[in-house]
Amino acid sequence: MLRVLFFLLAGLSLVFATGKILKIPLHVRRSFEGSKVLLAENATKESETLQLLLKTHNNMEYYGNISMGNPRQNFSVIFDTGSSNTWLPSVNCPKSNAACQNHRNYNSSASSSYVPDGRNFTLQYGSGRVVGYLSKDTMHIAGAELPSLTFGESLFLQHFAFSEVRFDGLVGLGLGVLSWSNTTPFLELLCANRLVEKCIFSVYLRREPREIVFGGFDETKFEGKLHYVPVSQWRTWSLEITKTSVATKQVGGKSNAILDTGTSLVLVPQQTYQNLLNALSAKLQNGYSVVTCRSEPLPNINILIGDMVFPLTPSNYLMEVILDRKPVCVLAIAPINRGFWVLGDIFLSRYYTVFDATERRIGLAQAK
Ligand SMILES: *[C@@H]1O[C@H](CO)[C@@H](O)[C@H](O)[C@H]1NC(C)=O
Ligand SMILES: *[C@@H]1O[C@H](CO)[C@@H](O)[C@H](O)[C@H]1NC(C)=O
Ligand SMILES: *[C@@H]1O[C@H](CO)[C@@H](O)[C@H](O)[C@H]1NC(C)=O
Ligand SMILES: *[C@@H]1O[C@H](CO)[C@@H](O)[C@H](O)[C@H]1NC(C)=O
Ligand SMILES: *[C@@H]1O[C@H](CO)[C@@H](O)[C@H](O)[C@H]1NC(C)=O
Repeated sequence: MLRVLFFLLAGLSLVFATGKILKIPLHVRRSFEGSKVLLAENATKESETLQLLLKTHNNMEYYGNISMGNPRQNFSVIFDTGSSNTWLPSVNCPKSNAACQNHRNYNSSASSSYVPDGRNFTLQYGSGRVVGYLSKDTMHIAGAELPSLTFGESLFLQHFAFSEVRFDGLVGLGLGVLSWSNTTPFLELLCANRLVEKCIFSVYLRREPREIVFGGFDETKFEGKLHYVPVSQWRTWSLEITKTSVATKQVGGKSNAILDTGTSLVLVPQQTYQNLLNALSAKLQNGYSVVTCRSEPLPNINILIGDMVFPLTPSNYLMEVILDRKPVCVLAIAPINRGFWVLGDIFLSRYYTVFDATERRIGLAQAK
């Protein structure tokens, strides 16, 4: 049922092996219930407001290990490119909050490097809310030490979103404009402290050992050359999709797309979604877009980024679920009431992705 794959890559011995590179092995867990669309927007006003609700039975969680404080307290965290703030459940979280009790809690009294901040925060993700107060402490990540990271100690975790998940907390890999005011978010702090040589990180989700690399990329994990495109909106890790087609039919035009490791699926604007349903002859059943798992092959969804096509094959964009006791294929693509796309894990598990903050660009290549 709960399948957790462990990737015991020699994290520590790899640190600084090739210049200054930090590698975090990512564990994967397929969660069978609950939604997880972690996408956040405009946190300068201390609340991230993009609301997305999504039902799916086939979410993947990718998480890695970090420690906070001295002596170290260990946590599993999601590394989320769709938001910029970091939080952990607090030891002061009330007993009544089941989601806190199901996870490891940070105890500031037990850490000699803890520094209070005093401000409160609320974060609203697509799948739920997190509330608490800000603190500062040293994060240990892949053998490196990141001092004075401001993070949230959570006193409230919304039950339906966070109770059943395997990760304890979240590390936002987004950019500073989205973070709490007067704080330096994880990525900028990592770069400012020169814990990595280059201010970039790369995500490999295709198969084990899955990993996130800070400071560089791993050429053995992708085929051919990286195809770079500029970051389209410097508030988020986003790029511009030129157009999208299914076979010879265009289903979507020019659009921004956020690359989000914290979202499981691919989310598209309403009109594009309608066009996709038509092009794939999908029918709605119990709120799902059902495609018959036919023997003849379905077409690829071809996403043009820059001058290169990034196809999603049926095995990428379909997932099998049981509806009315019958297995059916449903789209792992959902609509949003927004003008942009969200390229989540079903896209990122097919394409190796380099997030380059220095050159403000994103590199993509076919993941091996
Ligand atoms: C991460 O933490 C989990 C739970 O504490 C542990 O089982 C796993 O071995 C750790 N992975 C690594 C790479 O240290
Ligand atoms: C983000 O929040 C700031 C401060 O509240 C506000 O001035 C700005 O208009 C917001 N931007 C968006 C896109 O909502
Ligand atoms: C925390 O993690 C480190 C490194 O994975 C491990 O050596 C240590 O035993 C862990 N500590 C606890 C209390 O689980
Ligand atoms: C937190 O740490 C302090 C100091 O080590 C300890 O006295 C206290 O019992 C801890 N709290 C919990 C709930 O574990
Ligand atoms: C922070 O939240 C707590 C409740 O969790 C409340 O008692 C306190 O007044 C809040 N502080 C500020 C500065 O808003």
